[in-house]
Amino acid sequence: MAQGKKILLSGIQPSGRPHIGNYFGAMKQFVEMQRDHDCFFMIADYHALNTIQDAGALQKGIIDLAIDYLAVGLDPKKSVIFKQSDVSEHTELAWIFDAITTMPFLARAHAFKDAEAKNKEISVGLFNYPMLMAADILLYDTDIVPVGADQKQHVEITRDTAEKFNRIFGKTFNLPEAKILPTVAVVPGIDGRKMSKSYGNTVPLFAEDEEIEKLVMSIVTDSSGGIPKNVYEIHKLFRSEDDLASLYQSKEGKYKELKEKLTHDIKAFIRPLRERRKAIANDTDAVRNILKDGGTRAKEKASAKMEEVREKVGVKLY
Ligand code: TYM
Repeated sequence: MAQGKKILLSGIQPSGRPHIGNYFGAMKQFVEMQRDHDCFFMIADYHALNTIQDAGALQKGIIDLAIDYLAVGLDPKKSVIFKQSDVSEHTELAWIFDAITTMPFLARAHAFKDAEAKNKEISVGLFNYPMLMAADILLYDTDIVPVGADQKQHVEITRDTAEKFNRIFGKTFNLPEAKILPTVAVVPGIDGRKMSKSYGNTVPLFAEDEEIEKLVMSIVTDSSGGIPKNVYEIHKLFRSEDDLASLYQSKEGKYKELKEKLTHDIKAFIRPLRERRKAIANDTDAVRNILKDGGTRAKEKASAKMEEVREKVGVKLY
């Protein structure tokens, strides 16, 4: 890896098909930033274990996400593409962070509070989720973490945890910064709420044409104004606001035509990505090899950092 470049790390959970919120909020930045950063792109499989407890489904999710990463343009020659579980240092460091973190501190996390408000059964792993994420980031001396707005608090928790560790054991960890693009920080779903798998309001990134047509037609429109806000907000991802201004003016009140135009634009955007994805999916052995190699490269860096951590906390004797 080149000297002097900033280190970037980010990850996605292999918990189903990625959607255009994942793409515009995070993956697009991953692809663009590969050129001038030392990048680590992770498949957060141990995070996903909190929700996917079916070996076949998790295995499929991991391979699928690796294919998705490659299809959008992550390049194993430029970046390290790996899965979290291949680098056992992540869970080891998470344990050390657990030991220095209090329950009230973690109880302030939005993800935990949301789950609690919905009366969900919360696993210890879900409660500790931010500690594993802090380990993911801090093991690599990461400078930049490109994410959507929903991950902002997790990166703040990571910084607080790094500071706390440094205070107790001496300077060890770099303080990373989240990189959140304001225009796509929260991509809305077809019902106007944040696009999220758990709301069932997504447009999958590799959707087939027919699926795109159905989804766009089901976008909830507010009939009070000439401009259907939810249609416009999604359209903005695919066309400049200048283009859209004249289009939406000339088609004021014509929701069906505007939706047809949006369908056309989404299809044109997704088609080449979907084709590339299909070609990559034909050779899953090659995909496994890319992950395996990425795991080896990630482990090299993480294990050196972990040696330093073991020494700092006092468990290293030889
Ligand atoms: P995950 O898998 O939920 O989402 C992956 C990425 O997509 C972004 N995103 C969005 N951005 C804009 N608008 C939306 N509607 C939208 N929905 C999702 C997320 O912000 C995220 O960037 N905890 C992480 C995975 C993770 C991670 C890490 C990330 C594990 N370890 C270390 C960075 C660094 C998560 O669950 O993302």
